[in-house]
Amino acid sequence: MTPDTAQRRPPAAAEDTPMILFSNINKWYGDYQALTNVNAEVKRGEVVVVCGPSGSGKSTLIRTVNRLEEIKSGQLLFDGHDIHAPMGSAALNKLRSRIGFVFQSFNLFPHLSVLENIMLSPTRVLGVKRAVARDKAMQLLERVGLANKAGAYPAQLSGGQQQRVAIARALAMEPPAMLFDEPTSALDPEMVGEVLSVMRSLANEGMTMMCVTHEMNFAREVADRVWFMDAGQILEKADPEAFFCNPQHPRAKRFLSDLRAH
Ligand SMILES: Nc1ncnc2c1ncn2[C@@H]1O[C@H](COP(=O)(O)OP(=O)(O)OP(=O)(O)O)[C@@H](O)[C@H]1O
Ligand SMILES: [Mg+2]
Repeated sequence: MTPDTAQRRPPAAAEDTPMILFSNINKWYGDYQALTNVNAEVKRGEVVVVCGPSGSGKSTLIRTVNRLEEIKSGQLLFDGHDIHAPMGSAALNKLRSRIGFVFQSFNLFPHLSVLENIMLSPTRVLGVKRAVARDKAMQLLERVGLANKAGAYPAQLSGGQQQRVAIARALAMEPPAMLFDEPTSALDPEMVGEVLSVMRSLANEGMTMMCVTHEMNFAREVADRVWFMDAGQILEKADPEAFFCNPQHPRAKRFLSDLRAH
């Protein structure tokens, strides 16, 4: 972390506390219970892949982490901070700025160049000087293999390139953890690999990651833990080998055999 950004951040929690801790999380949409008693943790440096059938609550769960979804009860700690505690919008925005989030849709600003997209939050939210933010943005573009696209506009990029810019933009805030909600599912098949490869290298560098994805090969190779969800509950948490070779829950067995059948 640069000195420029360090002073504007809430303090990090102790090394041995989980990066993300879900305690008894319950979430309702009207009279529909979307999450039921979720208890789970993402440790520091860990890569967790969340999988499960459509509608099982994966997006809802990951969106509670930066409070894009409110919860009814329970406690959610991110790097030691109680995300769902009563707080004003300024405090919430400050916490959110520490949580890297990459969605299915890239949501880059179309009127800004790639470089400006990446520099925007560090300069606006953290007050980083433009020259510093520019250097950092260039480093990040190199890291995602797009140094030659700094001056391009989003519409001039492929979907896979736009998603890699979105990852660089999230990394520019130096988040202690990254959340991904199906980052490759809107991409043409030939572009999925380039995005997964950036995610794989992030994982290898020790980034804490929570990823909702249907890419089971990625889960198998990169995840430290796999969480299987159905009907708003985490039914199984396992190491990838155990999960894919010998799933325990009958619902997980069915999910995997359906996937293989397709
Ligand atoms: N804004 C909402 N209002 C009401 N119900 C919702 C809302 N968002 C999600 N749901 C419901 O909550 C359940 C969980 O949805 P969620 O989007 O978390 O599933 P998911 O596991 O991410 O599915 P997918 O794999 O299709 O993305 C679904 O039954 C869904 O219809
Ligand atoms: Mg979803």
